[in-house]
Amino acid sequence: MKTIEIRASRPYTVTVGRGLLPALGATCATLVKGRRAMVVSETTVFPLHGAAAVASLEKAGFDVVTHVFPAGEASKCGTEFLNLVNDLAASHLTRSDLVVALGGGVTGDLTGFAAACYLRGIAYVQVPTTLLAMVDSSVGGKTAIDLPAGKNLCGAFYQPAAVLCDLDLLKTLPGAVFRDGCAEVIKYGVLSGRALFDALTPETIDEAIIAACIDDKRQKVEADEFDNGARQFLNLGHTLGHAVEKESCFTLSHGQAVSIGMAMIARAAARFGLCAPETAAEITAKLAAFGLPTATAQSPEAILAAALGDKKRRGDTLTLVVPRAIGDCVLHPIPVAALPDWIAAGKEG
Ligand code: GLY
Repeated sequence: MKTIEIRASRPYTVTVGRGLLPALGATCATLVKGRRAMVVSETTVFPLHGAAAVASLEKAGFDVVTHVFPAGEASKCGTEFLNLVNDLAASHLTRSDLVVALGGGVTGDLTGFAAACYLRGIAYVQVPTTLLAMVDSSVGGKTAIDLPAGKNLCGAFYQPAAVLCDLDLLKTLPGAVFRDGCAEVIKYGVLSGRALFDALTPETIDEAIIAACIDDKRQKVEADEFDNGARQFLNLGHTLGHAVEKESCFTLSHGQAVSIGMAMIARAAARFGLCAPETAAEITAKLAAFGLPTATAQSPEAILAAALGDKKRRGDTLTLVVPRAIGDCVLHPIPVAALPDWIAAGKEG
């Protein structure tokens, strides 16, 4: 078992290991004075792990209620947000009580945002059940729902009280969903350096690797909790990835889109002489080795149109994360007018 202390505006511990879900209640009992808890989950995850979460909380003396919403990104919406906060109120949770987010990124983001808003803030614990949520969305306090105008457009920075990454929960994860998380793991490899990048194979995603990814995120969150500097490195592959994801009408998963976005930015960086062609080839080969896509048939015009709506755009500038070598990425601001060249260069094989 590994623990990682996140020294954000509200400090907390991320625990990575096995057999953590049965200890959920004991962990939560150390975090809050109240003894009422709501387990929030969705229709795929709750039947798999809901009973264990409830039993553990009850054993620790909590009076437990549950809130289960339909699985899928469509639930990260205003309607489900209001359903959840109304249920928190109807269940009489107070500020000394606790909410548990049991699920993947959708559950964590929706529950975290509801926890941030209900009573102007109630403690919540993240129990991520996907690899992607373990290494990315459950850590760092970004919470949000989607708006019709775009993903994650309404949210808050609100740190959890604890994160429990129980690797036993990954056993029930479908292969394609596991691969999605691998795209983010490879991102950390490119960001952090050879030690992690070279260790990555589809067979080696274990406790040590997951903890190394979270520790890389820890450094960036501690340096820049509110996403104005170092945290932006975590967007490697995401600017073009989000555009490709949106243009596919979300038929591409987030991990597949980030994989394409990372391959595109690496190819474009090589084309513009910012990294060696071997670096781009190495990144692309690593993604392909995990069964992740590295190219798209979408037109450059369509990708551009989708990228222009990126919420990270600031005025006429977009900041790309560009790999110069494995373990050496830079924030590279470009005028929006230069984006078509980057997309065209990234699409070339
Ligand atoms: N998912 C990127 C971040 O937390 O900043």
